[in-house]
Amino acid sequence: MLQHGDEMNAASTNQQAVPSPRVRATKSALAPGRPFPQPFNSSLSINPSPTKTMKAIVTGLALMLGTVLYAPAADVEANWNKHCASCHGKDGSGDTKMGKKAGAKDYRDPAVQASIKPEVALKNVKQGMKEDGKEKMKPFADKLSDDEIKELIAYIKKFEKK
Ligand code: HEC
Repeated sequence: MLQHGDEMNAASTNQQAVPSPRVRATKSALAPGRPFPQPFNSSLSINPSPTKTMKAIVTGLALMLGTVLYAPAADVEANWNKHCASCHGKDGSGDTKMGKKAGAKDYRDPAVQASIKPEVALKNVKQGMKEDGKEKMKPFADKLSDDEIKELIAYIKKFEKK
């Protein structure tokens, strides 16, 4: 890495008749074609690490691209984690404190999957589910659109263990 001190050293020893081997090595690395390197030192401090800047740009671009390409998938997953996972679990197992209390079934089980009918499920998620007057699942009609709920019901399919 270029050191302020090294360059100063190389320049100030330019006039020396017999430079020491260490100084000569520094000179050959930095001095060629640059008789007065000192004034240019300022440019080094403005941008101390071009590599870091490049990394930041590349990371930024990758993030932007990722957002554009995966936005729909992230939406349904985000909705699941925000509204549903507290009971049904991130993995659909229903193995959460609230899920156990409410009686959420294990959506990894193919038999449970088979019992879920999309039209019925849409109605149930919109209006909520009650058993003996006790709420099992709260209604989501005011929080999510029909399309969002349909997406979530389709998303549940991916939990099935074949
Ligand atoms: C308060 C806990 C709770 C939350 C939060 C919750 N559920 Fe449920 N849900 C249940 C329970 C309990 C059942 C009935 C047992 C079962 O099927 O797991 C159920 C049933 C379902 C069913 C099956 C309906 C049917 O017709 O068989 C679907 C589909 C479903 N939930 C989707 C969702 C979605 C999507 C969300 C998020 C928007 C959600 N649930 C949020 C507790 C919850």
